Amino acid sequence: MRTRLASPMLLVAVLVAAPLLALDLPELAAVLKATDIDPLVEKVIGSLERDTTDAATYRQAKTRVEHAAYTLALYAEAVARADGSVSWKQNARAIRDLAIELAKATNQTKARQLLEKIKQGLAGASLGQNGAEKSWEDVAPLLHVMKEVNLVNRSLRRYVRRERYFKRYHDRLEAAAVAMTLLSYIAAHDNSPAKEAKDVPNPEAKYDDYSVQFFNLSRETLQAVRANDFKQAAAKVKAMQKVCSSCHEDFRPDIEI
Ligand code: HEC
Repeated sequence: MRTRLASPMLLVAVLVAAPLLALDLPELAAVLKATDIDPLVEKVIGSLERDTTDAATYRQAKTRVEHAAYTLALYAEAVARADGSVSWKQNARAIRDLAIELAKATNQTKARQLLEKIKQGLAGASLGQNGAEKSWEDVAPLLHVMKEVNLVNRSLRRYVRRERYFKRYHDRLEAAAVAMTLLSYIAAHDNSPAKEAKDVPNPEAKYDDYSVQFFNLSRETLQAVRANDFKQAAAKVKAMQKVCSSCHEDFRPDIEI
């Protein structure tokens, strides 16, 4: 017996409601290499080391430690998913889970212990069991992804302001463009903020569209930087600012950027 086909109208409704995003986004392995992400990890470790030096410093820097640890957890999951290898890839998911624990730590002794263990894992020591893949939302809240987006955005803007800076700080700019490519990719997986939107018609599709634009512009910025094309890089960063503002205007007008 043949099942009845759904009516064309219903089919259209299903197509429109389907999550566009999962279909539109490539696998991370096709976007970045593990070796692209490795230098970002070094930088985060440096900041965590400074902020966990002693109890007094830690108390003052606790919010920054939490944020840096979540960022590290995201980078570690990214290394596990990306193509190519770095010396600690076999530990990436164990490091991710230690970093999540570090983000939630409440005292300096514990925080330092976790950081030391993470450093051993980065140096190649066996950390025992490596966990399974986690969704990005389970690694870190979107708020921390966006916090880092905001920090990286400042670097991007600074280094494309003049051709002289573009040349002088090319390595830093490339690292920032890699970070933005990864962060926009991660952010695009979570369109839950669209659910709270008022007065925006078809909010999820609109949110996803901003997310995809943000990701594409980040990626094109990275390509332009790697091609040493100052004008193109500056144009892409400028266009990106419009997407930040538009998405915020529609979905988070309370957040000033
Ligand atoms: C697709 C939509 C979208 C795009 C594009 C976007 N944001 Fe956001 N942003 C959000 C949402 C939603 C939040 C709130 C996250 C939360 O509270 O969980 C947020 C939060 C923030 C925050 C607040 C973080 C904090 O510490 O409270 C800042 C700052 C920010 N975004 C800056 C930016 C910048 C800069 C860009 C572009 C480079 C950008 N955003 C692009 C949706 C977006």
